[in-house]
Amino acid sequence: MRINVASLAHFWRRAAASSWLAALVMFVFTGITQAAETRWKEGYIPNVPVVTQDGRTLLFYDDVMKGRISIISFIYTSCRDICPVVTARLSQLEDNLGDSAGRDYFFVSISIDPLNDTPDKLKEYSKAFGIGSRWLFLTGKAQDIELIRHRLGERSRALTEHRNEVLLFNDVTGEWERNSAFGDINVLASAVRAMDPVQRAALRPTEQANAGTFVDDPLNLPGQALFLKTCGGCHTIGRGNRVGPDLQGISTRRSRDWLTAYIMKPEKMRASKDPAALALAQKYPEVRMPNLGLSEFDSSDVIAYIEAMTYARRADESTPHAHHHHH
Ligand code: HEC
Repeated sequence: MRINVASLAHFWRRAAASSWLAALVMFVFTGITQAAETRWKEGYIPNVPVVTQDGRTLLFYDDVMKGRISIISFIYTSCRDICPVVTARLSQLEDNLGDSAGRDYFFVSISIDPLNDTPDKLKEYSKAFGIGSRWLFLTGKAQDIELIRHRLGERSRALTEHRNEVLLFNDVTGEWERNSAFGDINVLASAVRAMDPVQRAALRPTEQANAGTFVDDPLNLPGQALFLKTCGGCHTIGRGNRVGPDLQGISTRRSRDWLTAYIMKPEKMRASKDPAALALAQKYPEVRMPNLGLSEFDSSDVIAYIEAMTYARRADESTPHAHHHHH
């Protein structure tokens, strides 16, 4: 949902001139739109000092937000829940945006646990996701970070209930938009590009309509969408280790029961000192495989998809002259 405050207000003003009903509606809405209109004016975004994962001190407005289109997320490195998935998804978005990431669009992850998240911890965390220095991971003084959080609408008190949305903000136009990291990455990439008025004009209607229909590979199994959305940020099938291990051939390395139990409740496996789960946790120390709330059905769909992809990749590899149609 994009909110262009100025044109919304203009719309209501025109509508109000034409009918009493709209006038009544305007009476109700004026307060809201006026409040919103002043929200992002100079000084709304706090110009407080923040520290990057490389230990540099920057001013949050002047050095980070000013004149830019930013993709903002809130994280904390000890989160064992859903927030690593957000970072993993956003790193896919960064890949998707290609060269324009860090040039036209800037990724900013703000720690909501600044006491614990030192620059060094943020550095380790970003490295676990293969993220470089162009993407800023910020910490700072607790009261400064709190001010930033509040102004950007991230107000939850407990760490565990913080929002997992992504905030898109164009400082030049004053537009902002909340989005989810859990949808189709191509759709999110289009939303990011559309924050730029020039790109928005260039996006043809057909492209906009088709933005969500891209599929990464030719199989069309029920587990595919689920895998791409909830696992693909951290795992590949046959393209190497990412945040977590490559899952190609996983069913030949692990029993079906183990896989199902692990995919559904990895934290329980670790708590019960399952040797394989503990060995994995040791090998991948920065990020924990989160409990993603999958049902047994979901889990078996996902396993079936991984098996099918494993089989497809092996077939690819054993036919050297095979012609690749996908992509
Ligand atoms: C935020 C990143 C993340 C997401 C999302 C994620 N995983 Fe993992 N996964 C990991 C990490 C890291 C490990 C390594 C072990 C650990 O975390 O303790 C792992 C381990 C695994 C393993 C064990 C691999 C082995 O070699 O035995 C399986 C199986 C697995 N994940 C499946 C999945 C599936 C299926 C999904 C999607 C439903 C998923 N993961 C989503 C990060 C993730």
